[in-house]
Amino acid sequence: MSHFKFNMKVILSIGYLGIAIIMIRPDSPVDSNEQDDDVVVEGGLRPKKLDSYFGQQLVKDDLNIAIKAAQKRNDSLDHLLFHGPPGLGKTTLAMIVAEEMGVSIRITSGPAIERAGDLASILTNLQKDDVLFIDEIHRLPTSVEEVLYPAMEDFSVDIVLGKGPKAREVRLKINKFTLVGATTRFSLISQPLRDRFGSSHRLQFYEINDLEKIINQSAHVLKCVISPKGITEIAKRSRGTARVANRILRRVRDYALVEEDGDIDDRIAADALRRMQIDDFGLDQMDRQLLLALVKDFNGGPVGLDTLAAAISEDSETIMDVYEPYLLKLGFMLRTPKGRIASEKAFQHLGITYKNPTDKKNLNQIEQSSF
Ligand SMILES: Nc1ncnc2c1ncn2[C@@H]1O[C@H](COP(=O)(O)OP(=O)(O)O)[C@@H](O)[C@H]1O
Ligand SMILES: [Mg+2]
Repeated sequence: MSHFKFNMKVILSIGYLGIAIIMIRPDSPVDSNEQDDDVVVEGGLRPKKLDSYFGQQLVKDDLNIAIKAAQKRNDSLDHLLFHGPPGLGKTTLAMIVAEEMGVSIRITSGPAIERAGDLASILTNLQKDDVLFIDEIHRLPTSVEEVLYPAMEDFSVDIVLGKGPKAREVRLKINKFTLVGATTRFSLISQPLRDRFGSSHRLQFYEINDLEKIINQSAHVLKCVISPKGITEIAKRSRGTARVANRILRRVRDYALVEEDGDIDDRIAADALRRMQIDDFGLDQMDRQLLLALVKDFNGGPVGLDTLAAAISEDSETIMDVYEPYLLKLGFMLRTPKGRIASEKAFQHLGITYKNPTDKKNLNQIEQSSF
């Protein structure tokens, strides 16, 4: 299968004896996190304007009004927060906001800003009305986050001059700007930071017809010929995620080029997807392994996330960010106060006879998933 790009993912897991084990696993096509080859290709596939950004209608409607109002007032846009699972289009939206407002964008991320001074210097260098995009904003160190409060509220930065007893704090005015934050973990954003955003928007998994439009647009950019049925086949199995749809399209295109004459139809798409071991629901080996562990090793649950993660040698953050949201959306997995449980649907999907979760009370206390 040399035609499939073989990306590797290194997973460090700590065994029960405290020994670090390094596992190497090929990158999954349905892992909605950014992979190395996405960074290069996604740039070209990113829509530049709201018109070519499909789906997420509620978010788009809100943004449209906010952008038009800001332009009429000749003012900068209010600070925005986008949240939701990876690959749904948060970074793309941040770029579109800057493009539609006709301003520059400065891109950084929570873990990249280590010291308060680093953020202060970014803030003092912003031009009037610029967009500052902070990805993974929930990972900003607290001391850095505190610099953001006066910046977002009063457009000022407190800087300490001098050292020791003679040190004094001065407040510097900075240009008015728009902070766009993105996060996969809304619940980890502190209340003071949340309060300072003018609006926050939760991105949803895409419907099939929106994914079809995204795939169609990307096929044009990638100059590949694909039939409408081929598009639907990929859309159905992209787990509601734009990044996954684009990635599967690229892999199917490679398959069609090597194994067939290059054009894609539904049969070729289905063949390629089968080779990638992606099933009709868009689940890959890792999803199935997770469900199997839940169903077989833990009798359908409830089981704590960390225990489940250890059972399949994956880290709990990846399960929570990447795999779980879609399994919850499909209703294969449920979150209860006592842990994760597998639904009857999940048992059916795996072809295993359904067993009720041991503690029936859990079913009455199913938590709403919160990201
Ligand atoms: N609504 C959309 N319409 C078209 N393409 C999209 C849309 N949302 C995301 N994409 C594409 O999906 C890929 C991943 O989007 P990205 O913004 O990086 O996701 P996130 O930042 O939420 O992880 C990009 O290539 C982007 O162009
Ligand atoms: Mg992103």
